[in-house]
Amino acid sequence: MTVTTLPTNHQLIEQWRRQPAPLLPLLHAFHERDGYLSEDAMRSVATGLRIPIAELFGTVTFYHHFKRDANERSVPRVCTGPVCVRFGAGQLLEELDGQPMPCAGRCDDPIPVLRDGTAFAGTRAGSLTAHLSPLPPPHPGDFEECVFAHIREPGRAKLDGYRATGGYEALRRAVEELSPEGVIGLVTENGLAGRGGAGFPTGQKWTAVARASGGPKTVVCNADEGEPGCFKDRAILCHDPHAVIEGMLLAGYATGASRGFIYLRYEYPEAFRVLHHALKEAEDAGLLGDSILGSDFAFRIHLRRGAGAYICGEETSLLNSLEGKHPFPRNRPPYPVTHGYEDLPTVVNNVETLAAAAPIVRRGARWYANLGLNGQAGTKIISLSGDIQRPGNYEVPMGLPLKTLLYDWAGGPEAGHTIQAVTMAGLSGGFLAGDDLDVTLDEPSIRSKGSFLGAGGIMVFDDRRDMIAVARDAMAFFAHESCGKCFPCRIGTQRITERLAGEAGPTELSAWIDEVADLGQTMKAMSACGLGLAAPLITESLLKYFPKDVARHVERTGHDVRGDR
Ligand SMILES: Cc1cc2nc3c(=O)[nH]c(=O)nc-3n(C[C@H](O)[C@H](O)[C@H](O)COP(=O)(O)O)c2cc1C
Ligand code: SF4
Repeated sequence: MTVTTLPTNHQLIEQWRRQPAPLLPLLHAFHERDGYLSEDAMRSVATGLRIPIAELFGTVTFYHHFKRDANERSVPRVCTGPVCVRFGAGQLLEELDGQPMPCAGRCDDPIPVLRDGTAFAGTRAGSLTAHLSPLPPPHPGDFEECVFAHIREPGRAKLDGYRATGGYEALRRAVEELSPEGVIGLVTENGLAGRGGAGFPTGQKWTAVARASGGPKTVVCNADEGEPGCFKDRAILCHDPHAVIEGMLLAGYATGASRGFIYLRYEYPEAFRVLHHALKEAEDAGLLGDSILGSDFAFRIHLRRGAGAYICGEETSLLNSLEGKHPFPRNRPPYPVTHGYEDLPTVVNNVETLAAAAPIVRRGARWYANLGLNGQAGTKIISLSGDIQRPGNYEVPMGLPLKTLLYDWAGGPEAGHTIQAVTMAGLSGGFLAGDDLDVTLDEPSIRSKGSFLGAGGIMVFDDRRDMIAVARDAMAFFAHESCGKCFPCRIGTQRITERLAGEAGPTELSAWIDEVADLGQTMKAMSACGLGLAAPLITESLLKYFPKDVARHVERTGHDVRGDR
């Protein structure tokens, strides 16, 4: 019989304390060993990393994943995101006696359950299975893909499979034929903009880091993907991890960075294993480390896991989280390009942005730019879910009509039903409905309707859905995830959730609308990050497209408050 000896507190501290960004991996190591973070573990971490114990408590309790009670060790967490609710998340939660978890990024494969570090999916307690993320559906259009062009090929997640279709050729081209400015030139000319939500031009970001003084410089891959309805990064990470690693290497070469981090959301344990293996393969093959491909370029990547906090996807909150600080967003300026990780110049890019870099360097700026339609550059991956026949990740040419995606590519709604509304940018872009579903999938078109494409999550709601309840749950998500740093966001998201839940507030329609609009405007004027700026779009778009539903809701609230029903 083999007896496994668990590592001691001292051994765990010694393993991690000299590593870059040690707090999260150390906390995870204790959490995995004991199933929760005990008082004793917390004290050891505080002493080992020289963090005041009160500060450490504040940081640890901010994250949803870390359990502090030994009795909760094996309690599963069940996704209660907008799509999973429709698939019966409430019932599954009861069956498993679990804890609710905000959207876990598996809307194409519901319902995700996390137990003992493994992700399962299924709609009933007896049908849960642990399996790898679904591949993107077969590409339905006549258009060429960029990021997904090879992702469906067998063995693509392994180094040999990746190399079989040109993998690491862009890196070779960069270090052997191109200067760092040459790589930045290619990424700038093609019009690539960030795919994580804000759409900032990638070439401009890389140029700013290349020109910034101080070092070592850092490249951070933002793989936190916490936006409800977004699950594209998970597909890339699970099935094409070397594309992301090669993208980070190109960013490092172009900007003069020598270290990289992948910050992966905790809810993707299978992606963690795939990435861990891919990084080891790349190191063993001399693609990471010193003298990469015989050049004088040196670059190392460290894999770090978050611990369940949507706000950690915001780049400055992510940087604080990596540094072991309380993950509040930072005040900006200064921006991460000059004052990022450890206050040094840092590129933060989304997974999809980085995965597009290698094909662009291999095939040229013009090729990528021409993939878009009607003057829009490149492609965008849309995570499509909800009341649609073929949910999944679709790489569309920028500028494709939304209805072509919904009806021709994804089969439209279930027979006998119509599409009532869709969300944009996951939840952050609010709703689009009615004639506004005639937009094309690009920022100018969607912004002209008061929304934005962002990270590209689109959830579909058919005519059976109660849009007031959908809006209430969306606002409850923002209230739950508001980090609390800004008073208007912390209180505003809470108050609006209560109004949408029919709890107290004005019982007269115009007063109700004025109050909700006032809360939204204050949040927009006073919030320090995109969460507080975006949340009011939920109620603005609800009022725009569903005024009669709002009027009925307020009337019902009035009856309830007066008790005359
Ligand atoms: C509340 C909030 C959450 C965010 N979550 C993510 C995320 O999960 N992944 C991501 O790449 N960007 C996220 N962003 C955007 C990042 O702050 C940042 O703009 C992005 O990582 C930059 O990469 P890109 O230029 O390649 O898009 C979020 C922003 C906000 C305000
Ligand atoms: S806007 Fe909200 S989430 Fe963003 S920093 Fe302020 S309180 Fe935190």
